[in-house]
Parts: sequence; C-alpha cells; structure tokens
Amino acid sequence: MATARPRVFVARRLPEEGLTPLAETLEVDLWPDELPPPRATLLERVRGVDGLLSLLTDRVDDELLDAAGPGLRVVSNFAVGFDNVDVPACTRRGIPVGNTPGVLTETTADLAWALLMAAARRLPEGYDYVRAGRWLTWGPLLLLGQDIHHGTLGIVGFGRIGREMAKRARGFDMTILVHDAFPPSVEEQAALGVASVGMDELLARADFVTLHVNLTPETRHLIGRDALARMKSTAVVVNTSRGPVVDEVSLAAALRDGTIAAAALDVTDPEPMAPDDPLLSLPNCLVVPHIASASRATRGKMAAMAAANLLAGVRGERLPTPVNPEVYDRPSGG
Ligand code: DGY
Repeated sequence: MATARPRVFVARRLPEEGLTPLAETLEVDLWPDELPPPRATLLERVRGVDGLLSLLTDRVDDELLDAAGPGLRVVSNFAVGFDNVDVPACTRRGIPVGNTPGVLTETTADLAWALLMAAARRLPEGYDYVRAGRWLTWGPLLLLGQDIHHGTLGIVGFGRIGREMAKRARGFDMTILVHDAFPPSVEEQAALGVASVGMDELLARADFVTLHVNLTPETRHLIGRDALARMKSTAVVVNTSRGPVVDEVSLAAALRDGTIAAAALDVTDPEPMAPDDPLLSLPNCLVVPHIASASRATRGKMAAMAAANLLAGVRGERLPTPVNPEVYDRPSGG
C-alpha cells in the first residue's frame, strides 16, 4: 500500500528551482495569488500540514502553530530575515525554522549600492525633470548632488551584507566606518580597510549611512529624531534592512527641513507603503518595493534553499540552514 506523501503549504508561487523538488515527493498546497493569503485563510490552510513554507509577509506565531497542530515539523522561511517568525515559540514546540542566508548577500548589497548612488546623484529627480519636459539646456547648477568617491560611508550592522558594502566602498576610495554589536577585531578592520566606531561618531562623520541590522527590539527606530539630528545636513540614509529600523515620521521631517539631504528606502513600515505616504511627496526620498534580493538568479537560489529546508524538515532531518539549531539539543527535539 502506497504511503501518503507529507503535506505542505507553500504561501506563494516560487521560482521553479523551489517548486520542482517539492512537487517530486510532497503533496503541495500552493497559494496561487500575488497577494499573501489572508490571515484566516492561512490559519485554515496550515491545518494538519507537515511543513510550512512561509514568506516575510506571513506571521508565524503561537496562533498559527496551534492552527497547524502537532504534526507541523518545519517552518521554512523564504528570506534571510525571520522577524515574521516567533522563533522561540517554534523552538518551544521542537519545530526547526529555516532561512536563506548567503545566497542574497551580494544581490542585496548591489541594490543598496544602487540606491546610495541614485540618491547621492539625484537620479529620480533627474528622470522626473526630463519626463516633465523641463530639460531646456545644460546647466552649471542643475541637480547638483554629492560625490560618492572619497566620501565617508557609515555601515550600521557589519554582517554579511554590511561587509559586501565595504567591498564596494573600497572601490570608490571611501573612508569606511562600521558599527556593530559585535565589532570586528583590530586585525579584521585592518584587513577590510574599515574602522569600527561608536554609533554617535559614525552618524556625525558619515556622508552616507547604510543600514544592515536585523530588526529586534533594540534596533526598532534606531534611526529616529536623535540619530537624524546627529547626521550631517548633507547625509544620505539608505535602508535595505527592515522598515521599522527607521522612524519614518522623523525621517520625513528631517528630509523636509534639511536636517539630512536624502534617503533611499527598499523597506518601509508598513509594507506596502501607502500611496499617500508623506515620504512619497518628497523629491529627496527614493522608495522601491522591497526588491533588494530580486534578481532572477538569487530568487532561484533562495527558492532552492527554502525547498531544501522544507524537505529536510518533513523528513525529520536536520535543516541545512536552521535559525534555531538549539531545537536539535532538546531531548525530544525534531
Ligand atoms: C530577506 O531575505 O530577508 C529580504 O528582505 C528579502 O529577500
């Protein structure tokens, strides 16, 4: 008698690199829409599944874990960030949680760098200017921006993506200041051409402040009124981490009154940003819809990795990239 295939819920259509391996051995319930499943639907669809492939738009918490029931063996999150998952709640139940680290590092840094350059050199304003038919002649004072080369880059959060930013900044002969809860050693700083400094010093000296921290209670609104006031009036803020790391009300005020020069955001709070959000009316604020990892190649690799975590989890094997490896230390851990 054929044994039933493990059942999984996949919360959105993924690149084929993820769906193909899942379809080979699992019974896949795939949410087909572009928008995430509404909460009630999500709770309904996870009932009795062996595995869940979630996205950063799906909240995985005690309520969802209760709805899924005791058969849930793995949560595989299609992202490197996992602030949408209550990891301690999963760990308490012996459920491993997977993420997709590594494969999106350079792609994310590329986008952060593109945002930095676009904001510094006022590309969106230039494009709007041309499209509005306002380009009448070459102008000595037209759309003057800031040099990136030989400037000072402040990297807040010096993990994988922060380090990739430093690599790009070295190519632009920049002074590179970094701030991290776990600062690099003196030897590492020398090898990477960076200087580890306190947050206040970084904010005061940087021409460009780029954010690469995880969202935690400590980093929520890390860039608020006080931090913005410490920056140069010519400073540019780039956020590709998580929206709530920046207090957007304070950011809008700072951009409006000239406390800082410009901002470029890949992430907002909330997402999506409302079309009438005050930040969207400011010419010195560039916003894109959380696309830092959105290259074809990288999304394919993320999908393959998320599938590998899901498959390992439903088979009772160790996930290739668990965020709560401590789950395997539990006496009855999965
Ligand atoms: C992540 O992976 O955490 C990004 O925000 C989306 O790729």
